[in-house]
Amino acid sequence: MTVRFAARVDRVRPSAIRELLRLGEDPEVVSFGGGYPDPALFPVDELRAIFDDLLTPANSRVLQYAGSTGLLRLREQVADRLTADGTACTAEDLLITSGGQQGLDLVAKLVLDPGDTVITEDPTFLGALIAFNPMEPTYAPVRIDGNGMDTEDLERVLADSPRARMIYTVPDFQNPTGVTMSLPRRRRLIELANEHDLLVVEDTPYRSLRFEGDHLPTLRSLDTQGRVVHLGSFSKILAPGFRLGWLLADGEVLQKLSLLKLAGDTQCSTLTMAAASAYLDRYDIDAHIATIVAAYRRKRDLALSVLDERMPAGVRHTAPEGGLFTWLTFPDGVDTAALMQDVLLPQGKVAYVPGATFFPVAGPASHARVNFSGLPDDVLVAGLTRMSELVGAHLSGSGPSNK
Ligand SMILES: Cc1ncc(COP(=O)(O)O)c(C=O)c1O
Repeated sequence: MTVRFAARVDRVRPSAIRELLRLGEDPEVVSFGGGYPDPALFPVDELRAIFDDLLTPANSRVLQYAGSTGLLRLREQVADRLTADGTACTAEDLLITSGGQQGLDLVAKLVLDPGDTVITEDPTFLGALIAFNPMEPTYAPVRIDGNGMDTEDLERVLADSPRARMIYTVPDFQNPTGVTMSLPRRRRLIELANEHDLLVVEDTPYRSLRFEGDHLPTLRSLDTQGRVVHLGSFSKILAPGFRLGWLLADGEVLQKLSLLKLAGDTQCSTLTMAAASAYLDRYDIDAHIATIVAAYRRKRDLALSVLDERMPAGVRHTAPEGGLFTWLTFPDGVDTAALMQDVLLPQGKVAYVPGATFFPVAGPASHARVNFSGLPDDVLVAGLTRMSELVGAHLSGSGPSNK
C-alpha cells in the first residue's frame, strides 16, 4: 500500500548522530561521537541485588501498572534531592519521565503549533531538535560563548521573534559545547522570559557532574513566576538503560504534561522506577556520583592534555568544568564532516560528531563534538592521539582549506 505520511513526518529524518552511534558500534572504530557514560561505572552488583529482591512474589506489584506521574516514593526521593540542590519542590510538582528526552517531547507537544518559534542556544542539543521537529517549529538560535547563552543576543532575538513560545537551554555543561551559563546570565534570562511571558525549558542531565568551580543555582530556583520547566535525568548518574528522568513544573502545566505522558506511554516501567527508588533508599548515590565525577574529571584532564599537546595550534577546544563533552573549533574553511569521512575514519578509525549537525538553522562546518566519558583511559588517549596526529598531518599537508 501507499502510506500517506502526515506533514510533520517531513521533519522526521535520520540524523548524523544516529549514523555515528551506529558507527561507534563497529568494534574497530574508536568513537568520541556518542554521549555515553562509562559502562564500567554502572552499579551492576547493587542493581542485581535490588532486582533479585524486587522480583519475588511478595513484591509482585512492581510488575503491575502504576500511576502515570510515577511512583510516589521515587518522586519524593527526587524532590528531596532537588530541594537539597536549592530547587525547592515536593513530589506533587514532579512527573517521572522516560529520560530527559521524553520531557522535551512532552513540552514541545504542550506549547508548539506549526510555525511557532523555539529559542535555542546555537549550537544546541541535537536530541532536542529531534524532539521538537515533529511539531514543525522554526528556530531562533542565540549565540553562546564561554559563559553560556549570550543574553544580549537573546534580547535581540526575542525582539525579532513574535511567535516565540519557549526558550530551551542546557545551562550546565551544555551539550555539545561543554560550557556553563554564568549566574548573571541566568538572572537575565529569567528577567527576559518574564518580560516576554515565555516558558523556559531548563535541561540538566549533566548538572551533578561538576568537576570543579562554583555550583550555580538552577533557573528553576531563580524563577518566581512558575515559567521554568526543569528537566533532569538518571541517565548520567545511574544508567541510561533505565530510561528514567524527571520533570518539575507548576500546576496546570504539570497536569497537562502528565496527560500527554498518559496518552503517549501510560507510565514509565514500574519495575525500573522501583529499582531506582530502591537504589536511592539503600545506597549513597552521592558517593556513587563522586566516583563518577572523579573518573570523568580524570578523563577530561587526559583528553584536554592530549588535545593541548598533539592537536595543531589552530584547533581550539573548550575546557568544560563538568559533563561529558569538549567542543573543537578548527580553522575557518575546514569541513569536519569531510575530514572525518575522508581522513579520520579510513586512516585512523576514529570518529567525533561533526559540529554542523548541532546548529538549528545553519552553522559553520568547522566544529566537532568530542565525548571524553565513554571510553577506557588508554583507548581515549590512543584514539585522541591518533586523531590529533591525522588532523595535524592533514592541516599541514593540504592547508586549512579542505572543502
Ligand atoms: C542535553 C541533553 N538533554 C537530554 C538528554 C536526554 O537524555 P536521557 O533521555 O537519557 O535522559 C541528553 C542525552 O544525551 C542530553 O545531552
